[in-house]
Amino acid sequence: MKRIPIGILGATGMVGQQYLRLLADHPWFEITFLCASPKSAGKTYAEAVQQRWHQATPIPDQASQLHVHSIDQIKIALERCRCIFSAVGGDIAREYEEKYAAAGLPVVSNASYHRSTSDIPVLIPEINASHLAILPHQQAKRGWSKGFIVTKPNCSIQSYMLPLAPLHEIFGIRNLMITTLQAVSGAGYPGVSSWDISDNVIPYIAKEEEKSEKEPLKIFGKVQGNHIEAAANICISAHCNRVPVLDGHLACVSAEFKTEPTMEQVRSIWDSYISLPQQLQLPSAPPKTIIYREEVDRPQPRLDRNAGNGMAVTVGRLRPCNLLDLRFVALSHNTLRGAAGGGILNAEILVSQGYLT
Ligand SMILES: NC(=O)c1ccc[n+]([C@@H]2O[C@H](COP(=O)([O-])OP(=O)(O)OC[C@H]3O[C@@H](n4cnc5c(N)ncnc54)[C@H](OP(=O)(O)O)[C@@H]3O)[C@@H](O)[C@H]2O)c1
Repeated sequence: MKRIPIGILGATGMVGQQYLRLLADHPWFEITFLCASPKSAGKTYAEAVQQRWHQATPIPDQASQLHVHSIDQIKIALERCRCIFSAVGGDIAREYEEKYAAAGLPVVSNASYHRSTSDIPVLIPEINASHLAILPHQQAKRGWSKGFIVTKPNCSIQSYMLPLAPLHEIFGIRNLMITTLQAVSGAGYPGVSSWDISDNVIPYIAKEEEKSEKEPLKIFGKVQGNHIEAAANICISAHCNRVPVLDGHLACVSAEFKTEPTMEQVRSIWDSYISLPQQLQLPSAPPKTIIYREEVDRPQPRLDRNAGNGMAVTVGRLRPCNLLDLRFVALSHNTLRGAAGGGILNAEILVSQGYLT
């Protein structure tokens, strides 16, 4: 298969660097366009990330001499690519993701802006690939011929949505209480000051609790005509904390279901879980999506964040809950499964379903 040429918006940032690393040898995609802020534009990639390359492996050879463009060079992107991975934030994402999509390029976004837009999917391919059916409506409504936008959820959510989804399908979630312990890389670079986070926990991450309480409902929702109808009758209460860990978001979860499962049923569902990306043999699908650790003190960020190349979710400490039905701890890598790796898996499912060619 000839590789699909792709571009990266925000290629120099924390998530952009992971895209560079993961796409360097990707069997389906080839990097042909990079862009970042005006301070990086005009430089080679190696010059632009000098003294702020955060990955443990060197800059991939294929990318180091690529030119970094300014984000408004959409015409050049259109000549060189057939898909865009967006790793820019805030207002830049809102303005430019739509411009790239309108110009005819599918955009796979990491940004939060469009997660609440009713005809833009918040995709975890293992859970709601069926939401891609909204894309023709999204294009028709905006008059976009070939472009569209697909987002992925907040970086902490996949850690518990992946183990919860197969349980929800059978037992129906009613109430969730979630406490997250989130790594500093989740705030981008330079992120939280070392003075604020060393020897400390910060019990507040702006807008994170709202995202954690809303996005799962859309992911568990259904396409109804020209919009995605969020799941009703699930109540979520979230506490989100920033902790002095470099990578890996941990979540402590208590859950109540319409029908209470036994611990044995839950373990059996997790142990036998085979995801759609695994069935389709998508290149970024981990060999096992949900890994259960029997040790009483796992999962731990330092030991478990790279499980399945950073694409698996590690779960442990399943036990009855005194308030709800059961509780467990879950962990996933926030810049891999929770960002660039999740974005690439989204693009892979788009290819496998014929939305990206
Ligand atoms: N970090 C995570 O774990 C994580 C997880 C999921 C989703 N996300 C989301 O992914 C996005 C990127 O996050 P990040 O952590 O990678 O942030 P980051 O490290 O701050 O990187 C931001 C990127 O955006 C570029 N940029 C800034 N201003 C720009 C402008 N005016 N025009 C064009 N490019 C501009 C930066 O370029 P320069 O280097 O030239 O400044 C850099 O490449 C955000 O929407 C974030 O919410 C992050």
